Amino acid sequence: MKKINAVITGVGAYLPEYVLTNEELSTMVDTSDEWIMTRVGIKERRILKGEGKGASDMGAEAVKELLRKTGTKPEEVDLLICATVTPDHIFPGTSAIICDKVGIRNIQSFDINAACSGFLYALDTASKFVQTGHKKVVVVGAEKMSSITDYTDRTTCVLFGDASAAVMVEPTEEEIGVLDTILRSDGMGRSHLQMKAGGSVKPASHETIDNKEHCVYQEGQAVFKHAVSNMADVSVEIMEKNNLAADDVAWLVPHQANLRIIDATARRMGVGKEKVMINIEKYGNTTSATIPLCLWEWEKQLKKGDNIVLAAFGAGFTWGSVYLKWGYDTNQ
Ligand code: UT7
Repeated sequence: MKKINAVITGVGAYLPEYVLTNEELSTMVDTSDEWIMTRVGIKERRILKGEGKGASDMGAEAVKELLRKTGTKPEEVDLLICATVTPDHIFPGTSAIICDKVGIRNIQSFDINAACSGFLYALDTASKFVQTGHKKVVVVGAEKMSSITDYTDRTTCVLFGDASAAVMVEPTEEEIGVLDTILRSDGMGRSHLQMKAGGSVKPASHETIDNKEHCVYQEGQAVFKHAVSNMADVSVEIMEKNNLAADDVAWLVPHQANLRIIDATARRMGVGKEKVMINIEKYGNTTSATIPLCLWEWEKQLKKGDNIVLAAFGAGFTWGSVYLKWGYDTNQ
């Protein structure tokens, strides 16, 4: 029997219209365009406005574009996985809500929470389903980070943005698609980056609301230190495992948390900056949406057979890298 690989066959995305600039943030907290650009590399980010709108609304738009671009009917999808840390509700899963909004019925769907590494975890899971018989799997990263951001805290509110992006994963007998994956987690890091309340350990109360414990809490320097070393380590490790020299890598697609972390990863890999997808300046950190959003933006430049390394680091801690060969030329 021939080996089945799982290949990305299309990309869709959704970006909310509202642009929150560094200038506007400077009127809300004691910060500046200069500080944010030098320390993080973000100029602006998108914010989802509108009463009653959640991650699923953006996720559904990204999936609709994906289905349109790939010529897929909703009834052809046999699994949808949503990576998110900003689900519409703790339950039911946002994946089921996205399916409903897109008109996908009676299929398997579930959410994955691996924070900023969520897309890599979901893509790896999708690949395994595809290798065991699923034909069309949708992986969508959808984040309304503005819903868990404290806009009085300058250390976090400049970092995050809202967005969604989705990919279609299908089987192939060609030597393309997801070829290797390294995924890691270490719960010892959980105290450095978390939402302190609203879960079973500390359910919502007047006190948790007053203390703003339903927002992102981050010890930036501790996370930075671990992100720089771990993201670079797994990226170099996946290159070595697959005998990839820097010249063999067509693209590095890093999670977009901080331009300095991206630069450090590329440097350790020996990959030139012209081969690194970077859009943090326009969208900030959109957690599980950053990597598919890059693939969506660069899609027209990608060629079948391009060696691509995806890399991420996030809360948990979770981190990982994926080695894939791109599956199609957009012009075909
Ligand atoms: O995606 C999930 C994983 N997350 C990450 O990978 C994020 C990792 N961490 C980082 O990217 C960086 O640590 C941050 C961007 C969050 C912070 O940058 P930093 O260079 O580590 O700054 P810092 O926390 O060491 O703060 C330096 C100074 C402090 O002032 P003092 O104590 O030196 O007077 C902060 O209060 O910068 C101050 N500061 C700000 N100043 C202006 C912190 N935030 C701001 C701000 N504007 N927005």
